[in-house]
Amino acid sequence: MRIKDKVAIITGGARGIGKETALLFAREGAMVVIGDFDAAAGEQTLAELKSTGARALFFKVDVTDRASVQNMVDATKGEFGRIDILINNAGITADAFLTKMTEEQWDKVIAVNLKGVFNCTQAVVPIMMEQGSGVILNASSVVGVYGNVGQTNYAATKAGVIGMTKSWAKELGKKGIRVNAIAPGFIITDMTAKVPEKVLELMQSRTPLGRLGVPKDVAAAYLFLASDEASYINGQVLGVDGGLMI
Ligand code: NAI
Repeated sequence: MRIKDKVAIITGGARGIGKETALLFAREGAMVVIGDFDAAAGEQTLAELKSTGARALFFKVDVTDRASVQNMVDATKGEFGRIDILINNAGITADAFLTKMTEEQWDKVIAVNLKGVFNCTQAVVPIMMEQGSGVILNASSVVGVYGNVGQTNYAATKAGVIGMTKSWAKELGKKGIRVNAIAPGFIITDMTAKVPEKVLELMQSRTPLGRLGVPKDVAAAYLFLASDEASYINGQVLGVDGGLMI
């Protein structure tokens, strides 16, 4: 029970890495709130959480919509009285080579992966400041550090997330709020199901540990950074990539 009785909001918690993190956090004693715009998947994950006896909530939220984010945050505070952990995990891709990328592809990835992180953090931080404690964890990516062919928009957001992480670590540290990011490598989820098999095989062959990642690899890293064991870790970007980028 490494985060017993903590209240955690996980955006994009209906599927993939977010879902695995929600289930792990519940097993470790947290009350988990999932905010996701996929209502069917969200309800399904909520049912799985509740079947384990966890206290959990699901909100249909679009992180680009500030009103829906505020509603989730207010309702979470109303139900549990506090918010200890925010995991800004919701993210999308819309890949194309630079010369082919449309303005719409650019705008929608920026809106979810960058502005969405800003929206959720801005809504939660006043509550954490009042408490004098909190943990914010952001989903970056190896792509945000090293770039990637066909991912101008995505790389810009994931690099931007690192900039926000470090800025907030500096701004909020004195208020008892820690802010860190995770930079996963290639993790097997719906998101990477869109990546050509050839590319995944290449990434696997380049990974010193010889395998692609699975959601629980990332969930375990989030758990560590959310727990008091990481109480002196702030403003960091933790690679969870099997050594792909060394
Ligand atoms: P996924 O596609 O399996 O799940 C993403 C979840 O976010 C879905 O449940 C989706 O409904 C939700 N979502 C998307 N847009 C939303 C919005 N506007 N508002 C609320 N919810 C929204 O993705 P996956 O693979 O689990 O990725 C999670 C995070 O980790 C993302 O930020 C992604 O960029 C990042 N990441 C993933 C990697 C991978 O290899 N899978 C590698 C590096 C980073």
